[in-house]
Amino acid sequence: MDLLTQINTDKVPSHVAVIMDGNGRWAKQKGKPRVFGHKNGVKAVRQTIDAAGNAGIKALTLFAFSTENWNRPKAEVKTLMTLLLTSLKREANELDKNNIKLQVIGNLESIPSSVLKGLNKVIEQTKSNDALTLTIALSYGSREEIVNAVKNISKKIVNKELSIEEIDENILNNHLYTFTLPDVDLMIRTSGEKRISNFLLWQIAYAELHFTDVLWPDFSKDNFYNALLEYQNRERRYGKTSDQIEKNK
Ligand code: IPE
Ligand code: IPE
Ligand code: MG
Repeated sequence: MDLLTQINTDKVPSHVAVIMDGNGRWAKQKGKPRVFGHKNGVKAVRQTIDAAGNAGIKALTLFAFSTENWNRPKAEVKTLMTLLLTSLKREANELDKNNIKLQVIGNLESIPSSVLKGLNKVIEQTKSNDALTLTIALSYGSREEIVNAVKNISKKIVNKELSIEEIDENILNNHLYTFTLPDVDLMIRTSGEKRISNFLLWQIAYAELHFTDVLWPDFSKDNFYNALLEYQNRERRYGKTSDQIEKNK
């Protein structure tokens, strides 16, 4: 049975975020170096983007590299950056053809300029697309993002463009890197780890969380569809009672 046909297309999450974890362990299981896992993780990225498109998801955000990942061995960091650049260059036309808009969030000042240049080219090429917004979180840390937002809000207060009384959840939201995106409805993490690792802390306030033991390079379209099906069977109560939710149906 095709899992995609079981998905209620009127009830898909408006924003799905994925912590792509487990490349290193996947490689280790095969007696290979960690970078072998990263290389094989690329096809899982492709599967996920395709599956999200097929299901009619409008926003997909992938955690590719965290602010904390800079602390990994230099050679691994370099491979990850190179891999990102070559994969994006290779996939650019395919993304464009599928009406996918690419954007990147994170502390981009720390990204090597060659990588940034390549990324910007694909961002420019796909900027008018509107089927799916694909956001790559790169050198991203949620706390860094929030600190950055507070700094920018403070500057506006000092310049008298904003008053303290005006600060509310919307204002803060609009100063995050994700200001163009809706709240995350579904967050998926692979590899069996059950933690958030500094990803989209503000944006997941009411997200449904889906954890799977599958290691990232093995993550398939069906794994993605399964996460969507599980999401559609959850009752999102936002603090209310189950009876209240039932009545409003
Ligand atoms: C995810 O896989 C990729 C990145 C964090 C860049 P890992 O490299 O974290 O793999 P494990 O967790 O060590 O297995
Ligand atoms: C989170 O994975 C970051 C990415 C998937 C890019 P990590 O493997 O870095 O997370 P921790 O350190 O195990 O929490
Ligand atoms: Mg990991």
